[in-house]
Amino acid sequence: MTAAREVPVPVAELNEEELLQWGARFSLSLTAPAFVTLSGDLGAGKTTLIRAIVRAQGALEPVTSQSYGLVREYASPRGAVIHLDLYRLRGPTELLQIGWEDVLRAQAIVLVEWPERAEGALPVGHIALQLAHLDGRPEVRRLSW
Ligand SMILES: Nc1ncnc2c1ncn2[C@@H]1O[C@H](COP(=O)(O)OP(=O)(O)OP(=O)(O)O)[C@@H](O)[C@H]1O
Ligand SMILES: [Mg+2]
Repeated sequence: MTAAREVPVPVAELNEEELLQWGARFSLSLTAPAFVTLSGDLGAGKTTLIRAIVRAQGALEPVTSQSYGLVREYASPRGAVIHLDLYRLRGPTELLQIGWEDVLRAQAIVLVEWPERAEGALPVGHIALQLAHLDGRPEVRRLSW
């Protein structure tokens, strides 16, 4: 019997300010093309973290939660940043309709909320970030990657 390989998972418990700072540092470590997924429950902080990542690229446009449309592109001095929120994705057909193939080929930093909705269509080797609430600590999130 072979022992399961233990892969250590980096974890941090961060308040919002710390998460924003982490996001800014992470952002500056990225070079396009980069594909990053952000998983976590409603309100876990995915958009908050994306806001920090986009801002650190130098984009001037504010990052908002998308109430309509699944894709937004931000221009930045370091190149394009593409933000997808797949929460309302209705299935693989819609993924193609929103230009998924172009997103995969883009010379951009791609940030995907609710990547579970695109299970099986995510590129191999993407960077996966997870955010989670902590019981009894509403101001803190657990970030793992
Ligand atoms: N440590 C923290 N990190 C991130 N957000 C925090 C933290 N503490 C409190 N918050 C608050 O939690 C909320 C997170 O909302 P956000 O829109 O970023 O979540 P989300 O994961 O994108 O949710 P959704 O799945 O609905 O898109 C914000 O109101 C933010 O102010
Ligand atoms: Mg969000």
